[in-house]
Amino acid sequence: MLEFDDRSDMMIRFDAVTKDYDNQTALRDITFSVGRGEMVFITGPSGSGKTTLLKLIYSAEKPDAGTISVDGWETGQLKESSIPFLRRNIGIVFQDFRLLQNKTVFENVAMALRIRGVGEREIKARVYESLKAVNLRHKADAFPKRLSGGEQQRVVISRAIVAEPPVVLADEPTGNLDPATADGVMRIFKDINAKGTTILIATHNRELYQNSGRRVIRLDMGALASEDRT
Ligand SMILES: Nc1ncnc2c1ncn2[C@@H]1O[C@H](COP(=O)(O)OP(=O)(O)OP(=O)(O)O)[C@@H](O)[C@H]1O
Ligand SMILES: [Mg+2]
Repeated sequence: MLEFDDRSDMMIRFDAVTKDYDNQTALRDITFSVGRGEMVFITGPSGSGKTTLLKLIYSAEKPDAGTISVDGWETGQLKESSIPFLRRNIGIVFQDFRLLQNKTVFENVAMALRIRGVGEREIKARVYESLKAVNLRHKADAFPKRLSGGEQQRVVISRAIVAEPPVVLADEPTGNLDPATADGVMRIFKDINAKGTTILIATHNRELYQNSGRRVIRLDMGALASEDRT
């Protein structure tokens, strides 16, 4: 049985979570929660555990101690076969992109809709709309290898948001972008957040969260160093 916690208006909750890789602790005793419709930044130096924290949310890694719930569902109780259903609620901007090299930009983005059973006609409309949002409509038929790093990153963003999932996790989403393009991407995140999407953005780029008025969760060597509002 899955434990369903319907008291919670929290979209994501970590309770005393620890994660070790081999003999190294990546996250230590982390407790925090993110409310529905919130946009929160996760920051901290390289190696502090940001990507690991996101992986725990979409169940690519399991905690060694503590519990994690996403939309009221305890991920530790999920069967392997239920993980795809959890992921349908989550759009992920991977730090390492993970684009399918043998598929066009259009097909990479369309994939997010195909796995959700969306029909062809709607796929076409939504993929082009989503590519337009990241200024890549003209690259729809290109293969990822032929794109610049920043273009590939925008394809990944388009793929993460095209299905309008309730949760978006973005891992260093502007790492390869010039300041103007990064601003454009942040505007997209703000727009979908204003429509109710819960968003977590992991970044060490202070400019993204400075003066944003959003909550910033700071990690330092796997520990929660501080939580504050900019
Ligand atoms: N698959 C893995 N196996 C072993 N150790 C890992 C693995 N993934 C991460 N680590 C270690 O866990 C720690 C946290 O890594 P993580 O990728 O979460 O950091 P990060 O904050 O995302 O860093 P960056 O800003 O460089 O992306 C690091 O010390 C890293 O070496
Ligand atoms: Mg990382």
